[in-house]
Amino acid sequence: MTPTRETFGNIPHVSVVLFYWLTLLAIGIFAYGIWRRFRLWRRGISIGLGQLFARNFRQIVARLNPGFHRLLKEGLGQSRVRGRGLASWAHIGLFIGFMILFLGTTLLEIDHLAAGISSALKFHKGAYYVIYEFLLDVFGVLFLAGCVYFLWRRTRRPASLGNRPTDWYVLGSFLAIGITGYLVEGLRIVWQHPVGIAAACSPVGLLISGWFSGLPDAAARSVHRVLWWVHSVLVFGFIASIPYTRLFHLIAGPLNLFFAPGDLGKLAAVSMEEVEKDERIGVSAVEHFDQQQLLSLDACMECGRCEEACPAFATGKPLSPKKVVQDLKGLMTLSLGPGRSRGTAGSTAAAPSEPSVPALHGDTIQLETLWACTTCSACVRVCPVRVDPLTLITDLRRNRVAEGALSGTAATSLRRMQSSGNLWGWPLVERANWAEGLDVPIATEHPKFDVLYWVG
Ligand code: HEM
Ligand code: SF4
Ligand code: SF4
Repeated sequence: MTPTRETFGNIPHVSVVLFYWLTLLAIGIFAYGIWRRFRLWRRGISIGLGQLFARNFRQIVARLNPGFHRLLKEGLGQSRVRGRGLASWAHIGLFIGFMILFLGTTLLEIDHLAAGISSALKFHKGAYYVIYEFLLDVFGVLFLAGCVYFLWRRTRRPASLGNRPTDWYVLGSFLAIGITGYLVEGLRIVWQHPVGIAAACSPVGLLISGWFSGLPDAAARSVHRVLWWVHSVLVFGFIASIPYTRLFHLIAGPLNLFFAPGDLGKLAAVSMEEVEKDERIGVSAVEHFDQQQLLSLDACMECGRCEEACPAFATGKPLSPKKVVQDLKGLMTLSLGPGRSRGTAGSTAAAPSEPSVPALHGDTIQLETLWACTTCSACVRVCPVRVDPLTLITDLRRNRVAEGALSGTAATSLRRMQSSGNLWGWPLVERANWAEGLDVPIATEHPKFDVLYWVG
């Protein structure tokens, strides 16, 4: 007999109809959540996506090509996730397991729709069925292993890892989805009685079916139906919760990998034209970041790698790149949400009907935080989804410099440069004393021209 199974086998028609309605509901909640965040990103400075489609095909491909390359290497290939020992491997297992299960479920639905048109179109049978069932069974184990590791790690709460109550829901529901999936498969084997390769191609399900071997067919069918519903409801919950939990990095992460510039952390020059047009330098309100920078705030899943790599954080300075990103994300949500007009964000003055929003500079990000950054780029290099805390910081810092809002060592150094021509405030004739006895070139005044030139 050709190995196969019915897609909604043992599930009454009314349950199947309800299943599709609930699927639509879950997708609706998911789409609404994405739309809510998308509206926020759109409020940033345009990255020119609209104009892109006015170009010809070659130009569009040239612009999008690096993004596709990164998506393959850093998204599907998980190349930036590596380097964190067991956590990286657990994620890779979870990721591959999820992708295979997702692909498998999609193919199953396509087969179901095709079979609905004509039974001749059904392809979920024979060798295809055997390979399909085997791969899903094996990769499901990888998915579960990743979940178990991450749950165990959460009980230890590494200091750099973000922690929200919904993290437990996400990992717990993943674990429950995996376990109920296998139970449903095991019970299906009990009542369906497949033999030979048709049973052996689901090794985990076959093993579980052994636990229920004494169960009469009718009882196995009843338990199967109940667990099928539990499994389905958990999956609906997962789909609907993606935009509202840390799982949002599934969407925003790859999007940011795609749209992020290739040269992260690079200080872009500011032109006089830009300054005249914008009437400001740098970022004084959250919507002065560009659309990709706003998207990157949502891509951050608080893994804490940037914080662990940051020398300022390690030496007790008031700076955590992860916190900067999260604080800006919080401000974006508060200040660019529906009902907030352009221009009120970042300002403490709110329209009478609007609750007041914290200011960007001072309330949300402190000056000491901005000046604690050494611009070393370590945070940029380690971020798995190409968030660029350094550029966020330098954009904010530029604005403070332009507004004359400098304090601490930076302000003192600039004042000393202005008065004495050196950072230490030494008298002009003494400022090169530190180089005495060292073989270093020294600049001196030119005898004819009013310039300095190297004499050593
Ligand atoms: C572009 C694709 C993705 C990237 C770059 C990515 C990256 C990451 C990183 C770096 C972490 C933190 C892990 C650590 O501590 O080092 C994480 C957490 C997590 N990822 Fe992904 N991820 C991606 C897609 C996915 C997908 C498709 C899933 C599957 C559903 C997933 C599920 C999770 C879960 C559940 C956590 C939380 C673990 C915890 O609570 O500790 N991710 N992701
Ligand atoms: S660039 Fe700044 S924020 Fe990033 S790691 Fe270096 S000091 Fe920390
Ligand atoms: S900015 Fe990147 S490295 Fe830092 S916590 Fe967020 S995702 Fe992790």
